[in-house]
Amino acid sequence: MKSRRRILVTSALPYANGPIHLGYALEAIQTDIWVRFQRLRGHECYYVCADDTHGTPIMLKAQADGITPEQLIANVNREHQRDLAGLCIGFDNFGSTHSAENRAVCERMYLELRSRGFIEQRSVRQAYDAQANMFLPDRYVRGNCPNCDSPNQYGDSCEVCGATYSPSDLKNPISTVSGTTPIERESEHFFFRLSAFEARLREWVGSGAVSQGVARKLAEWFTQGLKDWDISRDDPYFGFQIPDAPGKYFYVWFDAPIGYLGSFTQLCARTDLQFDDFFAPDSTAELHHFIGKDILYFHTLFWPAVLEGAQMRRPTAVHVHGFVTINGEKMSKSRGTFITARRYLDAFGPEYLRYYFAAKLGPGLDDLDLNLDEFVTRCNSDIVGKLVNIASRCAGFITKNFHGQLAPAVPDPQLLRDFAAAAHPVAADYESVDYAGAIRQIMALADRANQYIDQRKPWVLAKDPAQAQQVQLVCTQGLNMFRILMIYLQPVLPLMAAKANRFFGESPWAWADSQTALLGTHIEPYEALAIRLDPKSVAQLIDIQGADPAPKATLSTAKGVQSVSAAGAPAGAGKPAAAAADQISIDEFSRIDLRVAKILQAELIEGADKLLKLRVDLGELGERQVFAGIRSAYEPAALVGRLIVVVANLAPRKMRFGVSEGMILAAGPGAKDLFLLSPDSGAAPGMRVK
Ligand code: MSP
Ligand code: ZN
Repeated sequence: MKSRRRILVTSALPYANGPIHLGYALEAIQTDIWVRFQRLRGHECYYVCADDTHGTPIMLKAQADGITPEQLIANVNREHQRDLAGLCIGFDNFGSTHSAENRAVCERMYLELRSRGFIEQRSVRQAYDAQANMFLPDRYVRGNCPNCDSPNQYGDSCEVCGATYSPSDLKNPISTVSGTTPIERESEHFFFRLSAFEARLREWVGSGAVSQGVARKLAEWFTQGLKDWDISRDDPYFGFQIPDAPGKYFYVWFDAPIGYLGSFTQLCARTDLQFDDFFAPDSTAELHHFIGKDILYFHTLFWPAVLEGAQMRRPTAVHVHGFVTINGEKMSKSRGTFITARRYLDAFGPEYLRYYFAAKLGPGLDDLDLNLDEFVTRCNSDIVGKLVNIASRCAGFITKNFHGQLAPAVPDPQLLRDFAAAAHPVAADYESVDYAGAIRQIMALADRANQYIDQRKPWVLAKDPAQAQQVQLVCTQGLNMFRILMIYLQPVLPLMAAKANRFFGESPWAWADSQTALLGTHIEPYEALAIRLDPKSVAQLIDIQGADPAPKATLSTAKGVQSVSAAGAPAGAGKPAAAAADQISIDEFSRIDLRVAKILQAELIEGADKLLKLRVDLGELGERQVFAGIRSAYEPAALVGRLIVVVANLAPRKMRFGVSEGMILAAGPGAKDLFLLSPDSGAAPGMRVK
């Protein structure tokens, strides 16, 4: 192994005025997988985070709730820590930006910036609420857009025409705090001279600290020119006072990234870690930040410049992810798709979500869609159908027939070497935050393990006393393949891996343990490692109760139509257009259960010149036998492994050659002109087709 790296890792700090939701869960899970991977590889890796507690919205929310901001952030901090622990996020320290440690680092860095000439004082005219006695952040002023006159637009930009401007440009502005018309007031502000860092920032961006996609975005910002940054706010404000400037506070975005350092200071105080080992300008330790694409500017321009200006090291890398959408749309409270981590965790274990996110998370900025149907099929088919299936089909025989003892050798050492050889490419994918790539490789191996067991059929061998030794050998091979896969998956599935690790009776795994086989040792009795997700409970993640009345009404109308047509009566006036004779309703259509299937076997049938006999895998629905009239168009061998679409709930039909348990979809008149329907690559057996 290369020398031991020292790595400090962060996730962005969640705001302390709302719950952890599945969007932030993606970020925490992405970070946590990377951290667990580094630790498994034997590196020294620390993970810190904190709540982001300062600013006007938190001050106003506390006021509205009738509590102090300190009470508000203490309550939220408890909930955040509980929910993140529920998702198995393994922080070394989770702090708060409102801590003594953070205040100290903020002051130290500010004074350093000031003494080196990077802070400038300027007078600023700003919207002021004379009734609430406060300056108004842009978002708290609303009025008519100066460009298109649309009413009720925010003070910084128009959601209708996209124009950007300042609050003083709005027509008929009002303060959303008091409802009165704001006035303009002048006030002294402190600016950080970002423009002084342009050359050094360009150099940092070119150093590989960010991906190509992010570098392109930054190039645009460089072209537009870097503007100096106002880091101060006036009283009243919930935050830290600026030294030597009564009534002035640090802007929340100044002390928030410094919160990473404040949290790390707390960790140093509890351990023998030295802060300067990680933050001195010549530190050889690595510093990695994980963030969403909306806060790129803060982390790739302001933050490295502030660090540099304060004579500290810059980040090694900033890893940027896209946004979680639910069933293809932005998370939204009004649609009931603002799913909190708590709502999820009250119903399901964390590892399904961790697995699903990992399986879909590439290194880029693309958004990640949590499609609830796909979530069910993916978890059930991969975790339960493929992974756990390997162990559950082998463990029982070793326990019952061999007193838990594994065979002294594996019958197919080359196959096991193939599994071990994946350690390198899988690690490369984890390292570059291409978790989807890692999972793809691991699941391809799981398929091979299952094929091996399908072929050897230990349950058949076990019936023949002469084959007893074979059973032990085959199951030892199966369990060793499973063991390597669980080592690879430990960063994603830490709880399952810990269970599997105990089942094998080993001390905690390191990545290198994937290179050895477990032979002749005793295993513990096997306990179920995962159960199937129930699609009905998953559908309930969407909070219809909490959603707007509008979607509720559509739902009940749809039910009404169904019951009317079921009774055979024509739909009444005022109902959505009734189906014409040659049309079917959406309900009738949705009764057809179309699924993606994978062809496992395709055989010619003696005496049938049009038919092929297929064995297809329907994921969570299991395997089926289907007879299809496609012989004249397809060679059986060319079909194996192919993904197709199957009607899964067609009543079984008894045919001359056996029972057909489904129907496959193809286009064309028939004979040679026949074209099987296939989903795009990436679809998995069992997925619903709609
Ligand atoms: N408090 C700031 C971050 C300060 S870091 C010094 C903030 N907070 S946030 O709560 O709004 O967002 C925290 C992180 O969650 C950000 O990286 C943000 O991109 C991410 N996400 C928030 N909603 C998200 C999704 N729907 N999907 C994925 N990530 C999202 O910004
Ligand atoms: Zn406009």
